[in-house]
Amino acid sequence: MGRDGWNGGAVLAIESSCDETACAVLAADGAILAETVLSQQEHLPFGGVVPEIAARAHLAHLPGLLTRTLRDSGLEAAALGAVAASAGPGLIGGLIVGSTLGKGLALSLGIPFVAVNHLEAHALTARLPGLVPGGAPFPYLLLLVSGGHCQCVAVEALGRYRRLGGTIDDAAGEAFDKVAKMLGLGWPGGPALERLAARGDPAVHRLPRPLAGRPGCDFSFSGLKTAVANRLASLPAPLSQQDAADLAAGFQHAVADILADRVGNALDAMPEARLLVAAGGVAANATIRSRLTGLADASGVAFVAPPLRLCTDNATMVAWAALEHLRAGRYGDGLDARPRPRWPLDEIAA
Ligand code: KG4
Ligand code: ZN
Repeated sequence: MGRDGWNGGAVLAIESSCDETACAVLAADGAILAETVLSQQEHLPFGGVVPEIAARAHLAHLPGLLTRTLRDSGLEAAALGAVAASAGPGLIGGLIVGSTLGKGLALSLGIPFVAVNHLEAHALTARLPGLVPGGAPFPYLLLLVSGGHCQCVAVEALGRYRRLGGTIDDAAGEAFDKVAKMLGLGWPGGPALERLAARGDPAVHRLPRPLAGRPGCDFSFSGLKTAVANRLASLPAPLSQQDAADLAAGFQHAVADILADRVGNALDAMPEARLLVAAGGVAANATIRSRLTGLADASGVAFVAPPLRLCTDNATMVAWAALEHLRAGRYGDGLDARPRPRWPLDEIAA
């Protein structure tokens, strides 16, 4: 069968939109046959992702990772039914590397190439078979909170996404990373800040909750970040371990409150939702998870956050999003798709 038709074979997917180089092979029913993720260490000395370094690292790592993932899956390349790659949004260099490799492979095998929207892949992860008991039926509310994204999305149906609100300044993970940096923690800062906060008292520093109590589902973290910086400047130097822990705990609590407040409004705006899904690296935070669980309970909806490895960037979610489209018979000729650094979810044509 030519590349215009999917033969029902397995999907090989590539993720390269930021600093995770990842590959996965999923069977047509969504069973994960192999998955690999390489978190690029090349950025550590710079305290953040350097786009040009990320693109070069994807180029260096992808061919080997792809070969290894295919071998782990136990399939021959000839048994694949489609190839998929994140085509945006993200850092353009990495997107070009992943898409071009994927297109070349699809072309050489004579099978379809699916250009996947990275945000849609996060949005659909909860529907991966076996993740949520009984499945995650549409519609549901998605809170996407990562280093690059912070938004509430009404996931109404495959291809139908309505952005209810998003950050007007920093993403939540970005705020975690910046505050962690102020406190002298490493990068990425989220996990280190959570560990430090566990030894602190969140009540010591009363910090602002920007936009909380106001209508709408937008987010803002920059005022909170500035408040942490001001508080830090007022504490005796050098900063004691206890002061640092109390400040970390106060910040983490404020973020959890902000997220819960905005998601509460989003649930009100989407009364048809029976399920709240959290995705993205920040959804790994236990304080935030428990705050969202409490909110969902109080609102009478179920709450799920995919396992950590599927919350952070990975290729399994890319393969699954491609499979949803392939199974619905809805995919264009991805060979013509251009990688897009900006690609809002609501622009995905039905
Ligand atoms: O989804 P992700 O792996 O990558 C993208 O940004 O797309 O998210 C990474 C972000 C980083 O900002 C990191 O600091 C944050 O998620 N993060 C956390 C935790 N683990 C990762 N933030 C708070 N608590 C955590 N446990
Ligand atoms: Zn992501």
